Amino acid sequence: MRILLVGGGGREHALAWRISESPLVDVLLAAPGNPGIARHATCVGIGADAHDELVALARRERIDLTVVGPEVPLVAGLADRLSAAGLCVFGPTARAAAIEGSKAFAKALLARHGIPTARFATFDDPARARRYCRDLGTPLVVKADGLAAGKGAIVCRTLAEADDAIALCMERRVFGASGTTVVVEEFLVGEEISFFALSNGGDALAFGAAQDHKAVLDGDRGPNTGGMGAYSPVVAFDDALEKHVMETIVRPTFAALAREAGAYQGVLFVQLMLTAEGPKVVEFNCRFGDPECQALMLRAPGDLVPLLTAAARGEAWPAAPPWPRRASVCVTVASGGYPGAYATGAPIEGLTRAEAKPGVRVFHAGTKQVEGRLVTAGGRVLSVAAVAADLPGAIRAAYDAVGEIRFDGMHYRTDIGQRAVRAEAPPRRRGER
Ligand code: AMP
Ligand code: GLY
Repeated sequence: MRILLVGGGGREHALAWRISESPLVDVLLAAPGNPGIARHATCVGIGADAHDELVALARRERIDLTVVGPEVPLVAGLADRLSAAGLCVFGPTARAAAIEGSKAFAKALLARHGIPTARFATFDDPARARRYCRDLGTPLVVKADGLAAGKGAIVCRTLAEADDAIALCMERRVFGASGTTVVVEEFLVGEEISFFALSNGGDALAFGAAQDHKAVLDGDRGPNTGGMGAYSPVVAFDDALEKHVMETIVRPTFAALAREAGAYQGVLFVQLMLTAEGPKVVEFNCRFGDPECQALMLRAPGDLVPLLTAAARGEAWPAAPPWPRRASVCVTVASGGYPGAYATGAPIEGLTRAEAKPGVRVFHAGTKQVEGRLVTAGGRVLSVAAVAADLPGAIRAAYDAVGEIRFDGMHYRTDIGQRAVRAEAPPRRRGER
C-alpha cells in the first residue's frame, strides 16, 4: 500500500511509526511531517491546510489511503476533497467532523438523541447567555462553539467569571468567528477519560482509553495546555464500563450522525466524565488525542493499517487481537513559558540515550532540523513514551528517558499517571445500570 499521513505533531509521529511497521506498507509519505516522522516516512513540504496540493500529491503518488491526523483539515473538508477525487481517506467528512467543529451541533445532537451529557443551552446573544448562567448557577462552563485550539472551554467558578468568559467569546471575539455562538453548560464532577472508537460508517470498534493531564503543573495546577502527558489503560474504565459507553454513547452517536450528517469513517475521541450518575460526554473530537495517541500506539496490538483501511473503505473489521495488559505512559517535554509565550531554536541533547532505554520511544511534537542539529520548534517539543508490564514500570521508564534529555528552558510534569497509581478506590459509578 501507498499511504499518505497528514500532520506533523507527536500524534502523527506515533501514527507514522505504527503505520511504517506494517508489512502491508510499501510507501509512506507525510505532509508536512517532522524530523521524527522523517525516520519512518518521506516528508513532503505541504501543510495540512493546503488541500489542493494534498489532493494533487495523493493523486500523483497513487496513494491508496490518506490518514488525516489533526481536526482542522477535517473540519475544513479535506476528507470530502480526497473522496471527491476518488481517493480513500481515514477521517470524517466536514459534515460529520462538525461533531468537533461545532459544540452547538454536537450538544444538540446529543440532546435530540438522549445521549448523556452536561445540561446546556446555546446562545448567539450575550445578554441571554448571561441570564442563563444565573439560572444554571456556578460552577459552569462557557464554550466557544467553533475550533479554538483547545482554549475555547472556560470553567467559571463565579458569575463574574462567567460574564467575563461570555465577553471574551462574544464581545471581544478572542476566538474570532468560533466564539460568536457559545454553549453554556453545567460543570460535571468526576474522573475525566479519553475514550477512542473507530467507525467504518456502519459498525463501531472500541479502541482503548487513556487519561490526559491538561494542566501545566504537577497536581493539576496552572493553566491548561494541549496535554502534558497521558497513560493507558485507565483502570477505572474497565470492560463493563467500556461496554456501557459503547452502547449508551458511542453507537447511538454514530447512528445519529449517520442519519443527520452522513456516515462517520475514522476515529471518534469521546471525552467522558465519569460522574456519580454515570458516564457523560464532555465533548467529541474527530481525531486521535494528542498525547493520548502516543500512549495508545505503544499498547495497541497487531497491525494498525488493516483497521485504518477498514474504517476508510467501509469494510468489516479485521480479526483484532485482544489488547495486552501492559501499560503505557507518555510525558510531554515542553518549551520554557509554554502554554504562554515561549522561545524556539534551542538545541536538543540526549535523545539517543533516551531512546536506548528499554520500552521507550521518543515522539517529536515541535522540533526542527537546522544545519544538522535538532532544535525546538514548538510549545510541546517531545512526547517521551514508554510501555511496561504495569503503570509504575512504564512511569519509571518514561521518566528515566526524560532525565537524559536537555534543552534550554525545558519543563515537564513529574506526576504523569501518579493519580492512577495512588488511586485507592475506584470512582463512583452509581446509577450506571
Ligand atoms: P473541552 O475543550 O471541551 O475539551 O474542555 C477542556 C476541558 O475543560 C475539559 O478537558 C474538562 O477538563 C473541562 N470541561 C469542559 N467541559 C466541562 C464540564 N461540563 N464540566 C467539567 N469540566 C469541563
Ligand atoms: N489531548 C486532548 C486533545 O487532543 O484534544
